[in-house]
Amino acid sequence: MMIETAKKYLKEIQTDKFYTPIHKKYLQFTMVKRRDYIDCLKLVSRFKHINGSIIECGVWRGGMIAGIADVMGNARNYYLFDSFEGLPDAKEIDGQTAIAWQADKTSAGYYDNCKAEMEWAQKAIGLAGVTNKTSFIKGWFDDTVPQFKADEPIAVLRLDGDWYDSTMVCLDHLFPKVAEGGLIILDDYYAWDGCSKALHDYLSKHKRPERIVQAYSSGCYLIKKHDP
Ligand SMILES: C[S@@+](CC[C@H](N)C(=O)[O-])C[C@H]1O[C@@H](n2cnc3c(N)ncnc32)[C@H](O)[C@@H]1O
Repeated sequence: MMIETAKKYLKEIQTDKFYTPIHKKYLQFTMVKRRDYIDCLKLVSRFKHINGSIIECGVWRGGMIAGIADVMGNARNYYLFDSFEGLPDAKEIDGQTAIAWQADKTSAGYYDNCKAEMEWAQKAIGLAGVTNKTSFIKGWFDDTVPQFKADEPIAVLRLDGDWYDSTMVCLDHLFPKVAEGGLIILDDYYAWDGCSKALHDYLSKHKRPERIVQAYSSGCYLIKKHDP
């Protein structure tokens, strides 16, 4: 038993060694913390066999999706959705913690209300070498996501828009497009009430059977099941 535990620990150190340089490469392009970032890359790498595109809604400076592109390669399409104007206002459904966080413009994690110019994400994607496979879709999710049309399924859908409405519009329009066996990550499931409420409401509204699994400290994931 002890040998098994030691082997598991060694394997973890080895995989960390592989992913740590990717985190370093995109350090200034992401607000996802090192441990979560690496665990997210490890998780995504398990879905290389699923054909389809990779989408992130809520990219900020693009560092997370660029790291994912390093892992998943340039034979796929990448879609980056963001206002590039920061977060919309948190509402009551997002909880008092979210409303208070947004009101405190001096806190360390405020990041100018998560505002970043699109040029940052373009630079990160350039470093990943997937510029010719990438679409930058600028605007509010309410306007852009329902318009999204693609002939291929989504292999990996990563939602990082923090609030209830931002998460729900993405689930409503993109969850049905995820391939069977594909991966859906919600970065804020354990961080913000609005995100967890949106996921629960969506799954319940559609009587979806997917299980919610903890991916890393703030995030959860689901594996898309067969559509009824
Ligand atoms: C927490 S940041 C994303 C962090 C990023 N994934 C990273 O690697 O660091 C949230 C992002 O979601 C975007 N966002 C949230 N709600 C949005 C909405 N309704 N429409 C467009 N963009 C939105 C914000 O502009 C912001 O860039």
